[in-house]
Amino acid sequence: MDTIENAIQVRNLNKSFKKSFYEKKKQVLNNVSFDVPKNKTTGFVGNNGSGKTTSLKCIFEFIFKDSGEVLFFNEKMNPKIRKKIGYLPERPYLYEFLTAEEFLKFHLKLSGISLANENVNTLIDETLNKVGLLEAKKKALRSFSKGMLQRAGLAQALVHKPEILILDEPMSGLDPDGRLMVKDILKEEKKKGITIFFSSHLLQDMEELCDHLVAIHHGEIIYNADLKSFMNQYPSLEEAFRNKQKEARK
Ligand SMILES: Nc1ncnc2c1ncn2[C@@H]1O[C@H](COP(=O)(O)OP(=O)(O)O)[C@@H](O)[C@H]1O
Ligand SMILES: [Mg+2]
Repeated sequence: MDTIENAIQVRNLNKSFKKSFYEKKKQVLNNVSFDVPKNKTTGFVGNNGSGKTTSLKCIFEFIFKDSGEVLFFNEKMNPKIRKKIGYLPERPYLYEFLTAEEFLKFHLKLSGISLANENVNTLIDETLNKVGLLEAKKKALRSFSKGMLQRAGLAQALVHKPEILILDEPMSGLDPDGRLMVKDILKEEKKKGITIFFSSHLLQDMEELCDHLVAIHHGEIIYNADLKSFMNQYPSLEEAFRNKQKEARK
């Protein structure tokens, strides 16, 4: 039997939040375990508030988990691994006084790539071209539209040519052209063998792009396997997902 190699393994992740001193802790992630297979595209679906963003933040160590383990290529997070990941947060912090070019230079530096490297300009131009922002290279981010900012966010996740892309709602806030562009970019990256893990509540996009599916419902994983088996017998991912949610409620 073939064994599938995983780029990310999440095991028994728990996270709770306490809004104030007087309030009881609210468990947001409950023993979350799933896999992200290497060189494949994995979708992370769930309703708003189901725990997608919190999971991704714990995985990337933006916030501390309460317990559990996350492995990347069988290793715990370390500086070397971090450089192999491109991460698009749900609400990226975009330094509005920087130009698109400066913004990407800043992110290259964060990824440990020296700006003295002769490939820097090529990396930046290639990436801006890919996301349709080459003409806006010298423009400050504060003059960007919402769609352009989302593209800039995607560009910073791609610029250092990561092996794993983790994207939180990459299609949200984009017009139909922008969504198509993101989908084309993801397909292109997948062809190159990049591992992609992205969250969305837009099931149509998932159906089109994903090989593997992870579904979360009220902080619990209700599915973690290939997309085809998930859709088995159902005409659309939406119906399959609704049915899985019903089963989980029983
Ligand atoms: N910093 C926080 N403090 C308190 N509650 C939070 C915080 N972040 C997220 N939550 C709560 O955790 C739950 C899951 O949120 P989130 O992970 O953002 O869901 P999703 O990304 O699936 O929409 C929600 O009920 C949300 O209100
Ligand atoms: Mg979210």
